Amino acid sequence: MSEAPAPAVSDLFDKVVNLCKRRGFVFPSAEIYGGFRSTYDYGPVGVLLLRNVKDAWWRSMVQLRHDIVGLDAAILSPPAVWEASGHLKNFTDPLVDCKVCRERFRLDRLDDPEVCPNCGSKHSFTEARQFNLMFKTYAGPVEGAGAEVYLRPETAQGMFTNFKNVLETSRKRPPFGIAQIGKSFRNEITTGNFVFRTREFEQMEMEYFVPPDESPRWYEYWCAERLAWYHDLGIPEHMLRLRAHDEDELSHYSIGTSDVEFLFPWGWDELEGIANRTDYDLTQHASHSGERLEYFDQAAGVRYVPHVIEPAAGATRTAMAFLMAAYDEEAVAREGQGQGEVRTVLRFHHRIAPYKVAVLPLSKKPELSAPANDVLAQLQPHYMCDYDETQAIGRRYRRQDELGTPFCVTIDFDTLNDHAVTVRDRDTMAQDRVPMAGLLDHLRARLDA
Ligand code: GAP
Repeated sequence: MSEAPAPAVSDLFDKVVNLCKRRGFVFPSAEIYGGFRSTYDYGPVGVLLLRNVKDAWWRSMVQLRHDIVGLDAAILSPPAVWEASGHLKNFTDPLVDCKVCRERFRLDRLDDPEVCPNCGSKHSFTEARQFNLMFKTYAGPVEGAGAEVYLRPETAQGMFTNFKNVLETSRKRPPFGIAQIGKSFRNEITTGNFVFRTREFEQMEMEYFVPPDESPRWYEYWCAERLAWYHDLGIPEHMLRLRAHDEDELSHYSIGTSDVEFLFPWGWDELEGIANRTDYDLTQHASHSGERLEYFDQAAGVRYVPHVIEPAAGATRTAMAFLMAAYDEEAVAREGQGQGEVRTVLRFHHRIAPYKVAVLPLSKKPELSAPANDVLAQLQPHYMCDYDETQAIGRRYRRQDELGTPFCVTIDFDTLNDHAVTVRDRDTMAQDRVPMAGLLDHLRARLDA
């Protein structure tokens, strides 16, 4: 590696967006038709990244605990659910139109509520009107009253409407949680900043049901746990913070919320909200449905409606934060040659990296393809692997650096004699010669640590 100082990563946002398209992380949706209003498709590498984010969340929230169970509830739900939850009435944003250029804005997101950021006109806005963010559609062939359904704007309500089912079938008792990962839909007035705010996105939410007097303690607990999760997966401390909501920011169901915020290129912004939802949701659904949604503590002989602490994160938004935090540029000597160059590398935590290993035969010749395929067959049951046999090896390493692949395994002509391969480390670019028979153990020691 050269002594030259690493160039500063300026224009991080544009660089990450560009890399996402170039390397197959994220594509604009319906691009061949000109794209479609801030919707995005996750490409061959992006789908792996997103899956790893969701798997890491599920692992920490469900697999490694005994007090949280999973759920996968329907996306379509009847108006009664949203009537009870308060979303029909309260899930609104204030919308204004500029009378001069006819652009629409969210009033609460304008830098100056009197000046149109598009055309610069002053005092040109209409009166603010409340715009409901839920997408409405119709179930069945007849459009009209009675057939209306909503696409869920949060996964949370499925956990509340199934509270009784889960309580009766899972043998859990407060404090216990229900976790869910899935798509949510919001007809956002202003989308933007790539996948940060879109109309279709994925959430990772958990409702933790606790005895009412324990809710302050669990709120603190989940704030600390959730902040640590991002940090443990490689986001540096200086890019993370916890920020408590001011009174006027609180959602209609919350008496206290803290956001886990990430330092995006445009400043601090939300990754996740941890809210104290009290007994609001269970009480609302109980009174609207007529079902008793409470817990009877037989030992104490008391019946109560549990309070809820909710850590609610965005999977797509979090994937973007991992990309931003992992992006690095570094001045290096070209591998195998002497000239300097800048390499772009995504320094993902191993758990988040889309591919864990790339198998790279030095040439396409059949005598190397055979052992390379043996190596691939040895690793594939354990790790997501990429296989690439074209281009110069230096360019293939650079491609894997840009995908964030922690290890490249190169099969060369010496392999035919010594039955060993070269393992190249993404971060240090150090190369080790490792016997093929011990390759899996070598990688396990580094990837599963
Ligand atoms: N159940 C509570 C709830 O939905 P929220 O703060 O509105 O709370 C939780 O959403 C998380 O979902 C946010 O912190 C964010 O990461 C993600 N999210 C919300 N709206 C989003 C959007 N339009 N695009 C992408 N992610 C979004």
